[in-house]
Amino acid sequence: MTHQTIELMLRHRSIRRFSDQPVSDSLLSELVECGLRASNTGNMQLYSVIATREEPLRSELLKFHFNQCSSAPLLLTICTDVHRYHRYCQVNQCDQPYGNLLWMMSALVDASLFAQNLCLAAEARGLGFCHLGTVMYNTPEIAALLHCPEGVVPVIALALGFPAEEGRLSERIGPDGILHSEVYHPYSDDDIRRIHAVRDNDPFNQEMVRQNGTRNYCEIFTTKRYPRPMNESVSHKLEDFLRQAGMMDKEN
Ligand SMILES: Cc1cc2nc3c(=O)[nH]c(=O)nc-3n(C[C@H](O)[C@H](O)[C@H](O)COP(=O)(O)O)c2cc1C
Repeated sequence: MTHQTIELMLRHRSIRRFSDQPVSDSLLSELVECGLRASNTGNMQLYSVIATREEPLRSELLKFHFNQCSSAPLLLTICTDVHRYHRYCQVNQCDQPYGNLLWMMSALVDASLFAQNLCLAAEARGLGFCHLGTVMYNTPEIAALLHCPEGVVPVIALALGFPAEEGRLSERIGPDGILHSEVYHPYSDDDIRRIHAVRDNDPFNQEMVRQNGTRNYCEIFTTKRYPRPMNESVSHKLEDFLRQAGMMDKEN
């Protein structure tokens, strides 16, 4: 990997405000080309990406993302896709055995690798992006809006465009908190505190604690951002949708 690639990775930051400079078709095509060069299960490329730029569809889609990053000229919805492979199977008079959890998870890994390659290429070309995790909250609605057939599940959403802000280099738990040598080593309470100090002592995060009135940074997540009742209801909705999308067929 070149020096520049490493530097590009180390200065990544999410961008949430964009200029009105459009992303051309040729640039989008190059980004997709970079995405699809990522490794993928069996080289089956079990993903699709839907580019939304035109009104009123863009605004309708943004509503399902609670209007986050609303200045983005381009929204990419990356989907796991066994539909296209099943069509290939049909055309070749083969069985269509990919509508199950194994292939949902495999395709999700592939879609994630595709997305990350695409994102790196986008940053290399001066674009900025922000993931919209809200794709998981409104998956059925987004799938219906974007005409996804059975076997196609929106899993990653990106707001993309040329940045109108610098963004903030956010803190990370470092390699010493992530990397286990040979086997997994359990964390003591002190390890947990030490590893997360970078997060707990970050001035930006401390200001968030003050604004949210929580006891600590962790509690912002467990009570406000991703609390248990919401996690459970979104999980049930997702499970129902995966069944409806034919990705949970036990008999396959
Ligand atoms: C799967 C996923 C979902 C995300 N969803 C949102 C989101 O809905 N809204 C948002 O503002 N940022 C979202 N983000 C961005 C993260 O908040 C961000 O990546 C993280 O705080 C680290 O900051 P950085 O990307 O600037 O380094 C998401 C990131 C990922 C990977």
